[in-house]
Amino acid sequence: MRIVTLPGDGVGPEVTREAVKVLTGVCDVHGIDLSLEEHLVGGTAIRNAGSPLPRETAEACSAADAVLLGAVGDPEFDNLLPEQRPEIGLLKLRQVLGGFANLRPARAVPALMDSSPLRRDIFEGTDLLIVRELLGGLYFGEPRGFRNDNTEAFNTMVYSEDEVRRVARVAFQAAQNRRGKVTSVDKANVLETSRLWRQTVESVSKEFPGVELDHLFVDACAMHLVTDPRRFDVILTENLFGDILSDEAAVLTGSLGMLASATIGGPIDLFEPVHGSAPDIAGRGVANPLGAIASAAMLLRYTGGHETAARSIEDAVASVLDEGYRTPDIARGSGENIVSTEEMGSHVAKRAADNSRSGLAYHAV
Ligand code: NAD
Ligand code: IPM
Ligand code: MN
Repeated sequence: MRIVTLPGDGVGPEVTREAVKVLTGVCDVHGIDLSLEEHLVGGTAIRNAGSPLPRETAEACSAADAVLLGAVGDPEFDNLLPEQRPEIGLLKLRQVLGGFANLRPARAVPALMDSSPLRRDIFEGTDLLIVRELLGGLYFGEPRGFRNDNTEAFNTMVYSEDEVRRVARVAFQAAQNRRGKVTSVDKANVLETSRLWRQTVESVSKEFPGVELDHLFVDACAMHLVTDPRRFDVILTENLFGDILSDEAAVLTGSLGMLASATIGGPIDLFEPVHGSAPDIAGRGVANPLGAIASAAMLLRYTGGHETAARSIEDAVASVLDEGYRTPDIARGSGENIVSTEEMGSHVAKRAADNSRSGLAYHAV
């Protein structure tokens, strides 16, 4: 597998380093041929190459099997126009790679029941998958801009049937391999794009008679996510709603630092934790690397088809949490062992490699 890593800004490099450590270890044991190439993106790319997505980065990513990204975003550039900011590097990259379905799984972790501000009886057993449309909607709609001497600003929310259909199919297929339920989330009581979204999802659902479909308005969905999250299996939604709902869903896992994502459907897959560059904690070695590490596991699963290797990482994360290791964001109770980003990565890397070795030995028998 040819992988391009884009550590990016803030905690991005800190968590990506740990994800790469775990990935390399597991690939070694499994004999998976892995080549890694690091490139610039985001604020660090603006500083060092004059653009948030330098051409060299885009070309390297286009020639890779998959891209593993840390995070972009830097307060130094916060006052710039959207098209000059680090975030545009990520948005352009998503367009270049072409993946339109962003999968964001959120599971309640048994070892982290006390790390969430939610009551255990509300969220214990939650296991949901947000399928977020990633290349359409307000993020990319034209026209956009400022007018009337910068006293007005406007964006365009636009979706075509084709854009909705292709991401809906991904959601229904995912549901077939899970608990067979899709909840489509929109604002069809107000928005035309949502009316089209709902009709199109309804028509796609006929291709999947075994999957149950229901619809929620996004405001109600936001409420149900924290009052009755077990009602959800697959949540299918458009770009901006998915962005917001996935940070909310992170509360169910204990921390935003836990959430991983895979972007599939296009020529080149993209894997990134859901969180951002976390400037408030960057450079201190305290960021939670588990979202980035779980994104590397998704890379093995979705791009490589290496299910056993992916599982060995996910099982390692569960074991390390069972043993009480915590980065500060998921530390709550007593009897926990607070570790740095790097220590957490090393614990997971060791167990993942051990799991892989014993798994391989088991298969050999
Ligand atoms: P953020 O996700 O960076 O941080 C939100 C909160 O969660 C902060 O308190 C942060 O400390 C905490 N947090 C995030 N990741 C963590 C981790 N791994 N471990 C422990 N705690 C963690 O969101 P923000 O503060 O709204 O945005 C900061 C910058 O990141 C902005 O420039 C934004 O545009 C960018 N951003 C980038 C991405 C991405 O690259 N995919 C995603 C979201 C935000
Ligand atoms: C995310 C981020 C990005 C998004 C930003 C940084 C462009 O918030 O991946 O969730 O809004 O998609
Ligand atoms: Mn986001």
